[in-house]
Amino acid sequence: MAQITDPIAVFDSGMGGISVLKEMTRMMPKEDFIYFGDSLHAPYGTKTTEEVRQLTIGHIADFIENKHAKAIAVACNTATSAAVRILREMYPDVPLVGVEPAIKPAVLDCKHPRVLVMATPVTLKEEKFHNLEAIYDAQADIIPVPCPGLMEFIEQGILEGEELDSYLKDKLSPYLHTNITGIVLGCTHYPFVKKDIQAIVGPSVKIFDGSFGTAKELRRRVTEAGLLRSDEHAGTVAFLNSSDDPDKIRLSEYLYSI
Ligand code: DGL
Repeated sequence: MAQITDPIAVFDSGMGGISVLKEMTRMMPKEDFIYFGDSLHAPYGTKTTEEVRQLTIGHIADFIENKHAKAIAVACNTATSAAVRILREMYPDVPLVGVEPAIKPAVLDCKHPRVLVMATPVTLKEEKFHNLEAIYDAQADIIPVPCPGLMEFIEQGILEGEELDSYLKDKLSPYLHTNITGIVLGCTHYPFVKKDIQAIVGPSVKIFDGSFGTAKELRRRVTEAGLLRSDEHAGTVAFLNSSDDPDKIRLSEYLYSI
């Protein structure tokens, strides 16, 4: 039975979910958070769906059964696409949220939306994305842009520089001068390189990510379960990583601090 003082677990294939964690700690400052990055097995986005599913289920089961997490955030679009439905069936009583590409706000933002969705190959081939695409297809041009290799820059702490710049230009240049109105960052790693993306596409293109919506939904579910803290406790964040490279924790703390 979950206790109100138990921590909330936030999971990603690596350090990308820290972009979502930041929003969560801002919104729920009294909560203790455990952040787990599976950098040892990253990237998830170029694996098979079944591999991603097994890894995700294994880690989340460990959080719930052994680490006494009172709520779970799957802060990874790829893992959400592959496993969140099954996890909800496995743990119907645990407040559990996933992330999905923020297509809705990008489409509703303007009259003739033409939206790029940057995400991993797994996210873009899964049913969750196709369902979202089907909802908004009639009112917008939605253009998937698979970005294999992009999360690796962030995992290595490369948040700017020539190599990153040329990767992004290569992905985005076919769409420059085609009246793009918005870009959806459909992978939780990508907000860490938002500045570079914005510089390439120019200030008139709006960039969207799902962090705020996910944090809000988590708070709603934790509240609904009667598990939101209201005592005077100052919340904490503990970083864990499946890799034994100490740089992973140092980089996680750095990404959280910027
Ligand atoms: N951060 C992950 C996401 O939101 C994926 C990165 C990866 O492991 O490929 O999709």
